[in-house]
Amino acid sequence: MKAEYKNWVPEGMIKGAAAGAASLAFCAASAALTASTRTFKKEKAVFQAAAGLCAAGAAACGALMGWGTWAHDQFSYDGSRMLSRDIVEGVADYVLIPDGGVGLDVGCGSGALTIAAAKRNPNARMVGCDRWGIEYASFSRELCERNARAEGVENVSFLKGDAVELPFEDESFDTVTSNYVYHNISGKNKQELLLETLRVLKKGGTFAIHDIMSPARFGDLGDFLDRLRIMGYEQAVLIPTDNGKFMSKGEARSLFLSGSALLYGKK
Ligand SMILES: C[S@@+](CC[C@H](N)C(=O)[O-])C[C@H]1O[C@@H](n2cnc3c(N)ncnc32)[C@H](O)[C@@H]1O
Repeated sequence: MKAEYKNWVPEGMIKGAAAGAASLAFCAASAALTASTRTFKKEKAVFQAAAGLCAAGAAACGALMGWGTWAHDQFSYDGSRMLSRDIVEGVADYVLIPDGGVGLDVGCGSGALTIAAAKRNPNARMVGCDRWGIEYASFSRELCERNARAEGVENVSFLKGDAVELPFEDESFDTVTSNYVYHNISGKNKQELLLETLRVLKKGGTFAIHDIMSPARFGDLGDFLDRLRIMGYEQAVLIPTDNGKFMSKGEARSLFLSGSALLYGKK
């Protein structure tokens, strides 16, 4: 049995774009045909305008389908680039759990980072949590558990939990990690979300949180690092990963990952 980590570009999105392109192209052709049969100028113009609009929509859906197909291949664990794997493995390299300790992966999706971190820390345990079932329909707790079995990894467990209000006591974990989760959570202050994750980290524990940490999404993270230091954190740094570390600048731009960075440190 092979682990199936699925894809950050859902197949449903590509199929939806393809269906949209096909139906809009059909509408454009029908409207153009109808326009050609009309003799009244005004009527003709209305159908011609409708044909133009549908054709533009079809082109936009076609472009989305093309980009989605390419991006899906770039991210895929079976694709030509395997970018998701490189990023997950890159983050997992920063997840260090003391023997007998427990680490948390927030927004674990299909379990890729939880499992990669568990493999690197065989004498510790990893817990993966996710709210599942809202976006990324193919990710689930059952999928995570299947993937752990497929990888022969036993020091993991998975449970449902919302990053906005994690179902854990303060200072429950020796390490916390996460990959590309907080930018998905709309309407919430991203720095507050980071603090909620850090709340469940023990004093002296390490954190490795990777996301698209652009100022537009996360605000001034320089100030945030200062805030952590004032709160008594031993170390807090922001390591850009869109500069060749995990991906090239060009890849980041074309995959909408510019601003990717790893928030790393010790509480
Ligand atoms: C791009 S996927 C990344 C999955 C995984 N971290 C990985 O590296 O493959 C984003 C994940 O964040 C999860 N997510 C989004 N909002 C969440 C929330 N409020 N609480 C927990 N998980 C959330 C989604 O369900 C999805 O699994």
